[in-house]
Amino acid sequence: MEKKQMIYEGKAKRVYQTSDPNLLIIEYKDDATAFDGKKKGTIPNKGILNNKISAIFFELLEKNGIQTHFIKLLNDREMLVKAVKIIPIEVIVRNIVAGSLSKRLGLAEGTTLKKTVLELCYKSDELGDPMINHYHVLALNLASEEEIGRIEQTALKVNEILKNFLESRNIVLVDFKLEFGRMDGQILLADEISPDTCRFWDSSTKEKLDKDRFRRDLGKIEEAYWEIYKRVSS
Ligand code: TMP
Repeated sequence: MEKKQMIYEGKAKRVYQTSDPNLLIIEYKDDATAFDGKKKGTIPNKGILNNKISAIFFELLEKNGIQTHFIKLLNDREMLVKAVKIIPIEVIVRNIVAGSLSKRLGLAEGTTLKKTVLELCYKSDELGDPMINHYHVLALNLASEEEIGRIEQTALKVNEILKNFLESRNIVLVDFKLEFGRMDGQILLADEISPDTCRFWDSSTKEKLDKDRFRRDLGKIEEAYWEIYKRVSS
């Protein structure tokens, strides 16, 4: 697969066209940002680890009937994916209170939620990804009623699959963010699923094994990403 022009560079990834218009290459970088890019840094080997961790999760989800953009790993930092058009909605799924939910509702971090919480955010860096609801999705024409319904059902199914898989590796899936894309009338799970986009806690010690170590200056950041890779790849 021939790598062609770079068409997008984000905070953690670059996307390239290929000789096939239906396929793209995603390259994972070591750059890390937080708080809408206000905090910047580098996590050595993060790109390699996120590429490989995402591939493991996408393969697991495909095996369980979730359609994703993932095709195959190409090398340490790159994967081949289907060229979907990303829907500008971030879908957040929460099992346990943490991060912005803890702040917003004044709930203690670590509280188990009685019911899984699903949140939608409008993907816009300038606006800081504001939270939206179904009315906004339809009013802004981001997705149809049927599409957003399907997206939410898929997000909840992804939660069940990942939660069970991670539990068997002594990892609690606290919360995570998903993005979806369209291709030929289908909606596919896209973007990445990694310690950058999920909160993972060790089941026994509740130690944070994700990007919160970077966001909150907790140290041992690279070690946490390695630990997740070690556990999900075994
Ligand atoms: P939050 O508690 O900061 O709203 O984050 C919820 C989840 O979404 C958490 O697992 C981290 C992930 N996330 C992203 O992937 N990208 C983002 O820009 C933000 C703010 C959160």
